[in-house]
Amino acid sequence: MTIWIPELSEDGPRYRALAHAIERAIDNGELPPGEKLPPQRRLADTLKVTVGTVTRAYALVEQSGRVSAQVGSGTYVKAEQNAEGFSRVIGAPHDGLVDLGMSLPPPHPERQATLGRFLSEISADPAALEQATHYPLDDTMATHRQRYADWLSHQGLAVDPDELLVTQGGTNGIALALSALLSPNDRLAAEALSYPGVISTARQQSLKMVAVPFDDEGIDVTALAARHERTPFRALYLMPEHHNPTTVQLSEKRREALVALARERDFWLIEDGVMHLPQKARGTPLYQLAPERTIFVFSVAKILGGGMRSGVMRAPVALMERLRTSLRNQCWAPPALMTDIAGRWLASGEADRLLSWQFEELEARQVMVREALKDLDMHMRCGGFYAWLVLPGEHRAARLVETLEQKGVRVAPAEAFCVGSTAAPQAIRICLSAAPDRAALAQALNIIVETLSQNTPPRWQTV
Ligand SMILES: Cc1ncc(COP(=O)(O)O)c(C=O)c1O
Repeated sequence: MTIWIPELSEDGPRYRALAHAIERAIDNGELPPGEKLPPQRRLADTLKVTVGTVTRAYALVEQSGRVSAQVGSGTYVKAEQNAEGFSRVIGAPHDGLVDLGMSLPPPHPERQATLGRFLSEISADPAALEQATHYPLDDTMATHRQRYADWLSHQGLAVDPDELLVTQGGTNGIALALSALLSPNDRLAAEALSYPGVISTARQQSLKMVAVPFDDEGIDVTALAARHERTPFRALYLMPEHHNPTTVQLSEKRREALVALARERDFWLIEDGVMHLPQKARGTPLYQLAPERTIFVFSVAKILGGGMRSGVMRAPVALMERLRTSLRNQCWAPPALMTDIAGRWLASGEADRLLSWQFEELEARQVMVREALKDLDMHMRCGGFYAWLVLPGEHRAARLVETLEQKGVRVAPAEAFCVGSTAAPQAIRICLSAAPDRAALAQALNIIVETLSQNTPPRWQTV
């Protein structure tokens, strides 16, 4: 029987290098859930280290929560890695909770009434009802593609309808892009902190994730080139306008360097544009800089509402057939009714009005957050939903999140966004748009500020 042999490329103590290699292998799917780690003596002989080194390494990995040792049987990779942080963020609502954990557009008093008007319009339109009950065909989707293309172009995101595929939203677009571009065991690069949906989808599609450092100008293109040299990847997923969770925007200089590198090394770019900022706050889309190798993912979730489950992806025409096949295999097509509602909403000018209101509301909420969290290391972006707060003093994100939850405020810890074995910074994401109104936001901010001012030292947990 062959055994899994880790590559110990790291300097420092051998047990630590081995523990990190195992953690990386688990995080990138090389060691899947349920897999048994090699017997300690065999691995020690293979690596030419002592059994004690392997025992210490296994104990470290167990402490990280990735494996469990079963007496007399061996050490096994646990199921559902990384799921805890995210499931806590999307946990059940409860009475009195101000939930700033989910990424939601600010509640507009007229949103539901507007939806009701489109439903009435459709219910009085026999052709629309006929389409809503029929399997959607390519020619009916052409109308929907055109509506999306017109609206995006008017928002400064010029697209050709022939390069669009209508999807069930951003999550669906990302999954389609990954399944069309990559095969199991291929590598997907992403910023070291990234959208949890892409981490989870990559895991499900058995892709190996490569974490790339980033700073306040976005992804570090020099580090990206070095990662590609060491572990070539087929695609890079990123959010150039508004990085989730940190709000960082990719600078124009880096966009150019990134596109040059993608062309030189021949990898794909998956550009997530789901967080839709005002035009004046956006840079040049990557799909315009490198149309031949970029898939742009868009959704109406952050404008019309997450329940709409509608969006589009823009891809080079050469990829369209592959993407269409993936979509058909998943669900044939997005529901015609939801696509029709989203399209009418965009074409009527109502979405623009909603968006203008949203940008104003976000600005007012950002003023409140800036005032409440002044003097702290906090980041926001014009038109964005989040405040990214790097915790002061000795605060630990996991403990703070727990304390805030007990006090009735839910926020997301950095841990929920970590790619692979990336160490989580002590930081939290506060979704300021998700509060039901400004009063609830003010109440939550007071609780956050009060909790931070208590500066509880870390608990003494072990000797
Ligand atoms: C960056 C990013 N991409 C994609 C999505 C998913 O979009 P959708 O709700 O349309 O599936 C989200 C949702 O929060 C997101 O934050």
